Amino acid sequence: MEVNVDVNGARPAGAALLSWLYFLAGLLVAAAILRIAAWDPAADALWLRVAAVAFLGLKYRSLPAALELYTVFWLGDLLGGGAVRFLPLVAAVPLYAGWAPPRLMRAAAIAAAAAGSTLLIAAAAPIAGWGAWAVTAATALTLALAALNLTAGPRTSPRAVDVVVNSASGNTMHLTQQFVDGVQSTGARVTVHRFHYYRDFRAELTGDALAVAFPIYGFKPPWPMLAWLLRGLPRGGGRPAYVLYSAAGGPENAHLLLWLILRCKGWRPVGRSWGVYPLNVATFRWGPRALWRFLDRLVPLPTDAAAVRAHGAAFGRGEPAGYPFLIWPLPLFIGGILIDNKWVDTPLYRNYAWRRRCNGCGICVAFCPAQRLYLKDGRPRARGTCTLCLGCINVCPRRAMELRFWSEYGRPYPPRWPKLVVRRRAPDGRAVWPGGS
Ligand SMILES: Cc1cc2nc3c(=O)[nH]c(=O)nc-3n(C[C@H](O)[C@H](O)[C@H](O)COP(=O)(O)O)c2cc1C
Ligand code: SF4
Ligand code: SF4
Repeated sequence: MEVNVDVNGARPAGAALLSWLYFLAGLLVAAAILRIAAWDPAADALWLRVAAVAFLGLKYRSLPAALELYTVFWLGDLLGGGAVRFLPLVAAVPLYAGWAPPRLMRAAAIAAAAAGSTLLIAAAAPIAGWGAWAVTAATALTLALAALNLTAGPRTSPRAVDVVVNSASGNTMHLTQQFVDGVQSTGARVTVHRFHYYRDFRAELTGDALAVAFPIYGFKPPWPMLAWLLRGLPRGGGRPAYVLYSAAGGPENAHLLLWLILRCKGWRPVGRSWGVYPLNVATFRWGPRALWRFLDRLVPLPTDAAAVRAHGAAFGRGEPAGYPFLIWPLPLFIGGILIDNKWVDTPLYRNYAWRRRCNGCGICVAFCPAQRLYLKDGRPRARGTCTLCLGCINVCPRRAMELRFWSEYGRPYPPRWPKLVVRRRAPDGRAVWPGGS
């Protein structure tokens, strides 16, 4: 439990000093590399990022932090070229390391770091090419979000927190439970609203803070959740909001989308947590089941679950909480929209109901959160986007439904958290979720 506390909330004075020293060392190393012409920036970039990730990985024992930092540095390396490749390194490491001087000092330091490192790098290697611009823009955005969060004024500890959760195979629900445990440990009341349908979903957000939790589907929240966030989420009136998501490995830029939506709706996004969880897509589970069962058990790491509980406790105390809003130098959510839309999904994912088994009860139709299923001639048919939640397979009382992706059969995916998924037999055909309203 104690391992990640200093990333998120009250940090010991020594950690603050260490973070500052670390940041200064990062700047000095970057400057030295620029000045010593004989050094090979490509080789140094590799060792620098390995060293930084090892430092943070060991210090916080956080798989999401290590994965995210490594990828953001790698993208900086790949796209940035020249000295620009070091921008993500000098910006992201101190943010992740969690420095803790007073608020205004931190905001000023972030602004100075942004201006200083940009000038340093622009002077040594003029920014050229779209890749280098993408790296520079992503770094500037990361620092701007950090400075904005810090200057937003003090936060009081919330008395009641609303948590809206979208989770198909239970991973996100598990992540959310860790966060909720943390919040509740501070004495705050928590109301969990389990999201399923966009049209049917009504949540009275009466608390004085909000947490939004979702799985990453194609670099973004699932479509129904995105629709609710854009159209159904009420205005926040300046209340703090927290972003939680689970993914099978890709951290991506989904939190930037959430940050923007929450801000536009008048909420104040103050932090985010994410976790590496088992892949819930049966169609990608090639190979022996035993192998997948083994891989499923590896994640999330116990230290990562503890980190999210600590994030929840920090959020409940009104302190800085969670991982920084680190923006990747690639707008990956655009890729998600391109590969995940109704024109692509209709031919790509095919639902088949076994004639001999299906009795046309319509439970799968009532369940489908994307409302892509409809009954025709007493059998379910599909049209439109699919969130691949596999719910239609899992809720069917007669095991009649199959989902084909390309050429492979979908199989009922044995969820990692069986108690957190929808009940197989909903009495009236509606989804009944455990642990939420
Ligand atoms: C349609 C679909 C798309 C996905 N896309 C991604 C992705 O882009 N990156 C990723 O890391 N995981 C991806 N995943 C994996 C899920 O994000 C991951 O398994 C998540 O923990 C599922 O959460 P849940 O159990 O709460 O539904 C995808 C899963 C589905 C079904
Ligand atoms: S839930 Fe199963 S039996 Fe009922 S309509 Fe769907 S596929 Fe057929
Ligand atoms: S068709 Fe099945 S897998 Fe696709 S969104 Fe609907 S219930 Fe989920």
